[in-house]
Amino acid sequence: MGRRMESWASPSLALIKYWGKARGEGINLPATPSLAVTLEGLHTHTVVEEASEDHVVLDGKVQNPQRFSDFFQRVRSVTGSSLRFKVESENNFATAAGLASSSSGFAALAGACVALTGAHLKEEEISSLARVGSGSAARSIWGGFTVLPAEFPCAYQVADENFWPDFRVVLVTVTDKAKDHSSRDAMEHTRTTSPYYGAWVKDAASVFPQALEALRARDLEALGTLARLSYLRMFSSMFAADPPVIYWLPESLGLIRLAEDLRKKGHGVWETMDAGPQVKFFCEAKDLPALEASLKSGFPGLNYRTARPGPGLRVRELP
Ligand code: PMV
Repeated sequence: MGRRMESWASPSLALIKYWGKARGEGINLPATPSLAVTLEGLHTHTVVEEASEDHVVLDGKVQNPQRFSDFFQRVRSVTGSSLRFKVESENNFATAAGLASSSSGFAALAGACVALTGAHLKEEEISSLARVGSGSAARSIWGGFTVLPAEFPCAYQVADENFWPDFRVVLVTVTDKAKDHSSRDAMEHTRTTSPYYGAWVKDAASVFPQALEALRARDLEALGTLARLSYLRMFSSMFAADPPVIYWLPESLGLIRLAEDLRKKGHGVWETMDAGPQVKFFCEAKDLPALEASLKSGFPGLNYRTARPGPGLRVRELP
């Protein structure tokens, strides 16, 4: 058997969102800057080996090669290799349901493919490669807190996973059904049909630096307030698209209200959402018991899991 590389990467949850591509589709450069946290405990595990043609299996299902063709072409052109890749990937969390599986998926894939070619690329170059598959994947190369600037090819780390030891994320799965619209299609549809898209992009440029400052100060209230503006303004641009993009389910709104009620009672619990109905809360460890108690009493049927800031991409050769 030939050489095999394996990799792990964790999802990148954006506190300040990337939504929309600069200058349209193709090169996949983000139109808005994002600030994110890489989540410990959730991961994509990927094994890559040489094959006669590119072939990707995710969670036991053969994937549409078209979704990966630009990405594999880019791997070959950046590394100067002519290899074709056989890929087996598994997520230890719901795939394509808005838990940021494309971020960990393409980060793990980029790391393992580059290692198989034998090329020695810098982390920035692997991040840039991962971005071709999925913008958020550029951030998953690093652990802790990361930034992907607008119109920039790669992400970078602003603080490692030990920067804010009490920071917690609680991911609530409203449904584990895969979403109807991929984030890739929905953001392009928003860009081309929503009259609010321009306002979203303009506003994001001023929310982002304030959020970065709040993160650096570990000011949860300031960060939470800005994170809410970011995700709700992102969704506002989608609601105004033609036809509208509505990822939310009734439970999503119920969970947003739950966070509001907790804040009224003095708990620093904030929420965010991505291209799907799931709600992700963030808080400090001291407020976890109150959040868990509210979830258990208000939404007893919903599963959730808790994560801290986690590590970035790990790659090794399989023995
Ligand atoms: O890069 P994609 O295609 O996974 O899009 C990410 C879009 C959001 O998750 C909604 C926001 C973000 O910055 O992760």
